[in-house]
Amino acid sequence: MEARTALLAGATGKVGGGCLRLLLESPRYNAVHVLARRGATATHPKLIWRRTDFDALENAAAPAVDDAFCALGVRRDSLTNRRALELAEYAYPLAFAKLAAARGAKRFLIVTSAAADADSPLFYLRLKGRLEEELQTLGFQRLDIFRPSFLLSTNGVRNALNMLLWGPLRQYRAVSPLAVAEAMTAGAAEPEPGVRIHCFGFPGPA
Ligand SMILES: NC(=O)c1ccc[n+]([C@@H]2O[C@H](COP(=O)([O-])OP(=O)(O)OC[C@H]3O[C@@H](n4cnc5c(N)ncnc54)[C@H](OP(=O)(O)O)[C@@H]3O)[C@@H](O)[C@H]2O)c1
Repeated sequence: MEARTALLAGATGKVGGGCLRLLLESPRYNAVHVLARRGATATHPKLIWRRTDFDALENAAAPAVDDAFCALGVRRDSLTNRRALELAEYAYPLAFAKLAAARGAKRFLIVTSAAADADSPLFYLRLKGRLEEELQTLGFQRLDIFRPSFLLSTNGVRNALNMLLWGPLRQYRAVSPLAVAEAMTAGAAEPEPGVRIHCFGFPGPA
């Protein structure tokens, strides 16, 4: 197996933290480059942590990469701040994707949201939908979009609401951040080119 290089944004978050751990454990990757606005929260022989100004991502120091993973998202304390939402949920992920494409990434894997829709009346879902559309114009050989509904705050905690969500509503079941991270890192091993949208709440991402 040819070892690959991964580029990750969002490594200090819930989903991104899971991605970081799984990427570092994976024999598929010999180097994992993290772009983050703050200092390293982990050390590992394969980890290269690059403190980055997200307002100037196009100038970021980043190597040639194979696979890029994006788990950026607005922090809970800024959820009602439209500008912060626009940056963390749309502008920075898009700039990160462009950087990854410029560094040769063949695959791009990203968390968006269930019900992402560029025409949604909800600002957050509209941003996610616009982002999904823009990503599809960047020419990645393979683009994987992961659309969780709610993320469980503690892995393994069963969300009582989940029991009410059946049939087509299963995609709105809450899912653990680690399950999303596992789906993302597993998705990077899929050989077929193209765009895949993964929903949750089924036995696996569907
Ligand atoms: N939470 C949910 O229920 C839910 C549901 C559906 C979809 N999603 C989506 O899932 C994704 C991951 O969510 P999560 O809960 O894992 O996120 P999270 O724990 O809040 O982590 C967000 C990550 O984005 C980074 N970030 C935020 N604002 C930034 C900024 N201005 N500049 C640079 N980095 C910034 C954070 O870095 P710092 O550590 O430096 O802040 C952190 O690494 C998001 O796209 C979110 O919209 C979440």
